[in-house]
Amino acid sequence: MSVTIKSEHELEKMREAGRILAIVHDEMAKIVRPGISTMDINRKGEEVIRSFGCIPSFLNYNGYPASICVSVNDEVVHGIPNKKRILQEGDIVSLDAGVIYEGYHSDAARTHAVGQISDDDQFLIDITKQSFFEGIKYAKAGNHLYDISKAIQDFVEANGFSIVRDLVGHGIGKNLHEEPQVPNFKPIGRGMKLRPGMTLAIEPMVNAGAFEVWVLEDDWTVVARDGKNSAHYENTILITEGEPEIFSYREGLA
Ligand code: MF3
Ligand code: CO
Repeated sequence: MSVTIKSEHELEKMREAGRILAIVHDEMAKIVRPGISTMDINRKGEEVIRSFGCIPSFLNYNGYPASICVSVNDEVVHGIPNKKRILQEGDIVSLDAGVIYEGYHSDAARTHAVGQISDDDQFLIDITKQSFFEGIKYAKAGNHLYDISKAIQDFVEANGFSIVRDLVGHGIGKNLHEEPQVPNFKPIGRGMKLRPGMTLAIEPMVNAGAFEVWVLEDDWTVVARDGKNSAHYENTILITEGEPEIFSYREGLA
């Protein structure tokens, strides 16, 4: 499979998948507080997704056993919800969700504070979100893919954090993961030329410490090797001749 250029008809469906996902994130954000379990968040996310008649795309994807990925503190991504995992004041929690609307996917992630958190952790969350917006300044037809990667990496590293390298963003559409891969660090070269109609999930994963990660015994949960905290931020976007369109984000929502 190669990179697909979406038709206006397809984009309408992806826009709706993204619009719904922004609401899903907003509803999940509202229940994040000390004392709830990571399974409570999964339940809320799945309920909101299904209330729109959509399918949670992560459920059973490569055998993933839940609808939402809930990753706490040093967990980078793909944390499995568990009713015994109770969020504590001072934790940070990354929520990753995907929606299928009429056969088309959207994918987005946010990291939230649980109660009162340290200034250092808030800075990590803010820089991670901001790095996405720094990256998409280059997400425009005529630019090259790794221009985005470089902007994200430069911004994150200038702020003293590191970019996870073992996981990357991706094309998205009829499938959750399509070509091209979208690294958050700059490989050699500039990568492929961006064209209008390409849809990408751009998702910086930022470690407070070193970039190395490993996978827990559950075969899913990716954690920072040095045990320091990690944050994640992701949206599904459309490449145009001008500013990119962000499908899964709306000002005022989480
Ligand atoms: N948002 C993740 C990604 O972009 C998907 C989670 S993998 C799953 O790759 F298995 F949990 F679905
Ligand atoms: Co993704």
